[in-house]
Amino acid sequence: VNDFVREGSSKAMQRVLVLFAHPAAHHSRVHHELLAAAHAVEHITVHDLYEAYPDFDVNIRREQELLLAHDVIVWQHPFYWYSTPPLVKQWQDLVLEHGWAYGRTGHALQGKVWCHAVSAGGGEQAYQESGRNRHTVQQLLAPLQQTAQLCGMRWLPPFVVHGTHVLSDVDLAHAAADYGRLLRALRDGHVRFEAAETLTRINADFSVALGDTP
Ligand SMILES: Cc1cc2nc3c(=O)[nH]c(=O)nc-3n(C[C@H](O)[C@H](O)[C@H](O)COP(=O)(O)O)c2cc1C
Repeated sequence: VNDFVREGSSKAMQRVLVLFAHPAAHHSRVHHELLAAAHAVEHITVHDLYEAYPDFDVNIRREQELLLAHDVIVWQHPFYWYSTPPLVKQWQDLVLEHGWAYGRTGHALQGKVWCHAVSAGGGEQAYQESGRNRHTVQQLLAPLQQTAQLCGMRWLPPFVVHGTHVLSDVDLAHAAADYGRLLRALRDGHVRFEAAETLTRINADFSVALGDTP
């Protein structure tokens, strides 16, 4: 676990943990780029859950120690059936223990930040009340938002890459650059939480969520 823990952080710096969950990462186009962008950000931790637990045998203590050692948890995953890939659910069922993550004596995660970085085949127009999916991605993530809430964590609107099937290489490169920018802003404490919370996805308008940070 020590490998994962960044040392020598300055006071303003937030310790960011990216929990990456893709069941077929070797076939991935979008997350291949997003993951490379995350790896390029210094002083954050990237943890590949499917690589660590191909048999879903999640090491609860290791995962809890990782959570304790970070301030910001970013779930990076493709949208599968309006939700996460299944290992994320398994991880939640096992790691978020009563008396640790929630319940009368469960305060381990209080005050930490919970955020999703999601890719979705559907375009943004499909993810609206008037669209074919009738809900935004953020609305569909309601069980996760409530899980974060129950654990006393602060929810940030998701970073969403829409329309993955028709996304050009240029637009994908822009999305990856934006993701890197978001991770650096989270690390450096530059995210404006109250403004960001007004957005349905945090990358809808970075000038709102991040101000004029580079
Ligand atoms: C099993 C499965 C379920 C999916 N469910 C959804 C979905 O509910 N909504 C959606 O917009 N896209 C859905 N997709 C499309 C993926 O989100 C999309 O292919 C992925 O985000 C692309 O990223 P990648 O290149 O990193 O795999 C699904 C794909 C698979 C394989």
